[in-house]
Amino acid sequence: MDEHTRGEEALTNFTDDQKVYTTPNGTQLHGDSLELLEGLEDESVDLIVTSPPFALQRKKAYGNEDQEAYVDWLAQFGEAAKRVLKPTGSLVIDIGNAYRKGSPTRALYPYRVLLKFVDELEYHLAEEFFWYNPAKLPSPLEWVNKRRIRVKDAVNTIWWFSKTEWPQADVNKVLLPYSENMERLLKDPEKYYKTTLRPSEHAISKHFGNNNGGSIPPNLLHVPNTESNSNYLRLCRELSIKSHPARFPAKLPEFFIQFLTKPGDVVVDIFSGSNTAGMVAEQLGRKWYSFELSHDYAALSIMRFLPSMPPETAHKLYQKALQETVALPDEARHLSQAALDAAEAGLDIALEEREAANQAWGAAADQTHDSKSFDSSEHAEKTLALAKERRVAAEKEVKKAKQALTTAQAASAALDAFYAPETVVPNGDTSTEVE
Ligand SMILES: C[S@@+](CC[C@H](N)C(=O)[O-])C[C@H]1O[C@@H](n2cnc3c(N)ncnc32)[C@H](O)[C@@H]1O
Repeated sequence: MDEHTRGEEALTNFTDDQKVYTTPNGTQLHGDSLELLEGLEDESVDLIVTSPPFALQRKKAYGNEDQEAYVDWLAQFGEAAKRVLKPTGSLVIDIGNAYRKGSPTRALYPYRVLLKFVDELEYHLAEEFFWYNPAKLPSPLEWVNKRRIRVKDAVNTIWWFSKTEWPQADVNKVLLPYSENMERLLKDPEKYYKTTLRPSEHAISKHFGNNNGGSIPPNLLHVPNTESNSNYLRLCRELSIKSHPARFPAKLPEFFIQFLTKPGDVVVDIFSGSNTAGMVAEQLGRKWYSFELSHDYAALSIMRFLPSMPPETAHKLYQKALQETVALPDEARHLSQAALDAAEAGLDIALEEREAANQAWGAAADQTHDSKSFDSSEHAEKTLALAKERRVAAEKEVKKAKQALTTAQAASAALDAFYAPETVVPNGDTSTEVE
């Protein structure tokens, strides 16, 4: 094991071999989370937000025994997670639902997980959330589409567990924009509200006219799982690499990170996949650790941290991450600078060639003008035609080189923006609000 890393909020103990890449705020590791969790100090983590492999993907059968095995398997992680959570810390688990094999009745493992974590591991259920994903496809086809005896399953259960009854949480960080009606009411509360009793006998008072900066979100999170324009997917597409098949949308970890942590706090994803949570934590100025069993998924997730990078350059870093730890943003900046230098040199060469082509064309034009005999004028015409071609080709090269330079400059600027100093967690305890 490496020597401990001090001076940061979390005391960690990971080997270089486990580290896939590092960023100013975080580290992606590969390996079994049960082992990797041992690398984190007791009570050092503010939030674990994660989406485990579902029973559905782990086993092809969903009998009660399999469900129990799944719940016991997940509980080991729950136990290990509890040790590293601060007393104010939270564990947020997104669990998909499923039907029992061959039956139009539901598997109960999300609820078994809930009961096991509360009854046996002694977590508190701070609140249950439901992630409504309107983009979810109808399934199983047999019950939903063919026989039409079940409706479309469009929610995942998300258990927000806490170590104590008083986890850190601030709803003000996740307020939603007010509705148009509410905006109107806020402009002129007297006009819209009289202190009155609703049918439920709840009094509606003038306090409803207070502007609190937004409305309190419900525990139904409406987040479509459509992320086709992310940098990760762009690079996977351009490099013809298969992306992680079960990603959650960035808005999901973003909600819980904003709600349950402050800038500078420590966020961990123990089943990180394509490292959606780490990327969000990085941008929100939280320290993060992401654990992923598959070395390949872990290395590929580096694409999330290479905004606007050309695919060939990103591929180099992905390959390197499969061999040794990549230090971001330095290594990306290094390649990005090399690409900028090459683009600048390319433009210089193209400009020189255009200058030479222009001169050759000028000389050829003069020659055509001056040639007296038929033979010399035919020769001069040919030279002029060739010079023209050279001029057109040189102009094209200049255009290409300028485009390459613009692309390289944009990639370099995107890198600078992504790793802007205000999103970097300062060493030590102090941290500045970035939102
Ligand atoms: C549902 S995916 C997580 C996807 C992730 N939320 C994202 O947005 O990309 C679950 C991940 O857990 C990983 N996994 C399974 N067992 C693990 C273990 N014991 N330790 C660490 N990761 C594990 C799988 O390889 C898979 O990538």
